[in-house]
Amino acid sequence: MSKLLVCGGAGFIGSTFVRQRLLEHGDEVTVLDKLTYAGREENLKDLADHASFRFRRGAIEDPAAVSGAIEASSCEAILNFAAETHVDRSIAEPDAFVKTHALGTYVLLEAARAQSLRYLQVSTDEVYGSIDVGTFTEESPLKPSSPYSATKTGADLLVQSYVHTYGLSAVICRGSNNYGPYQHPEKLIPLMVLNALHGDPLPVYGDGLQTRNWIHCTDFARAIGHVLEHGQDGEVYNAGGPDEETNLEVVNRIIELTGSDSRVEHVIDRPGHDRRYSLSSEKVRALGWSPRVRFGEGLSETVDWYRDNAWWWEPIRSGEYRAYYERQYGRSLA
Ligand code: NAD
Ligand code: TYD
Repeated sequence: MSKLLVCGGAGFIGSTFVRQRLLEHGDEVTVLDKLTYAGREENLKDLADHASFRFRRGAIEDPAAVSGAIEASSCEAILNFAAETHVDRSIAEPDAFVKTHALGTYVLLEAARAQSLRYLQVSTDEVYGSIDVGTFTEESPLKPSSPYSATKTGADLLVQSYVHTYGLSAVICRGSNNYGPYQHPEKLIPLMVLNALHGDPLPVYGDGLQTRNWIHCTDFARAIGHVLEHGQDGEVYNAGGPDEETNLEVVNRIIELTGSDSRVEHVIDRPGHDRRYSLSSEKVRALGWSPRVRFGEGLSETVDWYRDNAWWWEPIRSGEYRAYYERQYGRSLA
């Protein structure tokens, strides 16, 4: 059993990780989260009364909020999930990405250094950029293409500098595209599922032949826990999913699973759109992790979850997200 401070734990993957650690590992977990548009206490609703769970609202770029959370939790490790995570928003408004990824990560690293705490940075395959054939290893060059991935890359480099310079006990875990329950509807899979359930058009960027390496959020969360426990200081571990699909293949599966009459609409492509992501996970597999959920089964369960949990997405779909959708797609939701 350990005491963990989970920054960004009210988001999609962070809340999945918190659930796993409380229910399957018996850890004590404190969440520090700013509750941006993407962070919601609803994501942790089922855990709110758990005796080993605490929630604190605060930003990772705020040193007082961070030191207060460390003191109150007596944590042994800090995990940083906190991030701005949507590529399209990073293209429209990069400011918050720079602040949270650069300044926020710096504040957390300083706090970890001051208290000699273990530190885990949650990162992404997008730091390697796009790959037409083959797969990225941890040795592949870093070649990010969006403000999202460039600032995530900067954060990773800062983490490695703290290991090299100050001997911090830190590790980095890079995941491929996640999917599953509690993912914000701005992302491909929940957006398409909810549009399909409402009869809205399904907006596919460009030709839709971009490929993503899908990993279920419970598999990525397990990889993060595994790297926290078994990863070597200063090392990076990729955690890629077992399946790759083009966006059109994903959307067609969703049409089939929902039985929807919604139609694919090819819309203007994302600027600088990465064509394909693919991660080799040999290094983390050698530590004893492997993904358990295949895409077909995981997607079907995910569609069922969204169909059954309107209480979760209705407030989002009727709020600020509508205005975001109009700005991004030039049309309103049904
Ligand atoms: P998310 O957008 O669902 O959640 C992000 C969380 O961070 C939210 O709860 C938000 O309120 C919080 N947050 C944002 N800025 C903050 C700040 N300054 N201080 C404190 N909290 C803040 O994101 P997610 O999909 O759960 O991603 C979590 C992590 O995993 C991110 O670091 C992301 O880069 C990484 N990742 C995501 C994916 C994916 O496909 N979603 C894939 C690989 C890696
Ligand atoms: P997204 O979920 O934003 O994740 P990422 O950009 O981090 O991979 O998008 C996944 C893929 O789906 C990406 O190639 C962009 C594409 N996409 C669409 O075609 N239409 C959409 O409305 C969205 C949100 C994404």
